[in-house]
Amino acid sequence: MSFPSNFYWGGATAANQLEGAWNVDGKGIACPDICTGGSAKVSKRITPVLEEGTFYPSHEAIDHYHRYKEDIALFAQMGFKMYRFSISWTRIFPNGDESKPNEKGLQFYDHLIDECLKYGIEPMITISHYEVPFGLTKKFNSWTNRQMIDFYLNYCKAIFTRYKGKVKYWLTFNEINSATMPAGGFLNQGILNEIKTMDFLDQVDIPQNRFQGLHHQFVASALAVQMAHEIDKNYQVGCMNIMATSYPLTCKPSDAIENLKHNQVMNWFCSDVQCRGKYPSYIWRYFKENNIQIQMEESDKDILKNGCVDFYTCSYYMSNCQTSNPDKKINGEGNLIHGVNNPYLKASDWGWQIDPEGLRFSLNEIYDRYQLPVFVVENGLGAYDKVEEDGSIQDDYRIDYLRLHIEQMHEAILDGVDLKGYTPWGCIDLVSASTGEMRKRYGFIYVDKYDDGTGDLSRHKKKSFDWYKKVIESNGECL
Ligand code: BG6
Repeated sequence: MSFPSNFYWGGATAANQLEGAWNVDGKGIACPDICTGGSAKVSKRITPVLEEGTFYPSHEAIDHYHRYKEDIALFAQMGFKMYRFSISWTRIFPNGDESKPNEKGLQFYDHLIDECLKYGIEPMITISHYEVPFGLTKKFNSWTNRQMIDFYLNYCKAIFTRYKGKVKYWLTFNEINSATMPAGGFLNQGILNEIKTMDFLDQVDIPQNRFQGLHHQFVASALAVQMAHEIDKNYQVGCMNIMATSYPLTCKPSDAIENLKHNQVMNWFCSDVQCRGKYPSYIWRYFKENNIQIQMEESDKDILKNGCVDFYTCSYYMSNCQTSNPDKKINGEGNLIHGVNNPYLKASDWGWQIDPEGLRFSLNEIYDRYQLPVFVVENGLGAYDKVEEDGSIQDDYRIDYLRLHIEQMHEAILDGVDLKGYTPWGCIDLVSASTGEMRKRYGFIYVDKYDDGTGDLSRHKKKSFDWYKKVIESNGECL
């Protein structure tokens, strides 16, 4: 078993989940900076006014801002060929609506990118990963407002011009399709329909705002693709989706239809727009039935048509099932997604059902649909890790999870999928996006940081570190 010789093995992170230094060197407040910690059982809170004495996980996170050299050196030791990270929008434009970028913020990413290049690691940059400037939320209710397109493009222009010649791969929005679900309204889009303290899981949801916000994001993404190509013809710009693989719970035809409808909105709508350059026909019925009316400008159709992405990327963690039976309990937890548990699968400690074959299944569907190069830019097991007395971390469960998924990616390649790379999530332990926890760890590298804010931030290799190093060295043969 071996992967294509130029396959991009690597890892992925997001600025707000690892950098810390939340108010250093001119950085402004981003939406995650006003989120408290939480857990699998207790929702994190959104506090528009920061509370004294409350712990905010993003404020220090794992202090990658000051330790990036050590971290990139560890990634290089594992043999990374690619590192997917995000730029923090508020380091570049602290409130989001300034006209000139913050030089110190730009410098940080000069250094980070140079550090990657020093080791021959190809950067893949997410432009907006779950951290809209809070200033834009307060003033404009973020992506509900069309002016966001200009703020976003201003930001794109600053980074596209600055990092020209050093970076090739860009992603416009992390998990853009999360905004088809209530949880994505604030997380992805920075939309807060009421500015008040509340549980993250208790947001006031206005679907009209989310879908109008998505339209603005589609237009912004399409214009960013065009801008990128004009600035540097070598730039490749991709979309990024949560691939929430879903099956009919039974072979009853109405379960299949329920699943089809779910998939259309959840898994295909956003990538259909971004890869095919127009709204898919099935979405109009969904809009009608949900009383959603999208305001579009005359030129939007052409913008979308001329701003198709160059490649497709997704995160993949789990799958679940859909049914037409209203008596079936929605008991399947997932990456922001909920469905019915699949009786054939086991779940992680956070209730996400583990389904390696689902990855092969979805990669086939994706490639068949778009015929674009594909990257899996997130995948991994969030788990409790225990430090043994001798200091080692024996994370065999993580190795098993990753091995099974890598095997299925290989099957997908044999099936004909043009899979270009794999960057497992949280290659170094970082703050969980959904719960704000540190104890939900994904990394090959353990970070001494805990949910009460304690820890000396030291880095330690887990058993999976050496395992992944071998996987990369052998180009996927040694699993
Ligand atoms: C994806 C996000 O949804 O899943 C990441 O892009 C996130 O930001 C990851 O961290 C894992 O989810 P969680 O909630 O376990 O951190």
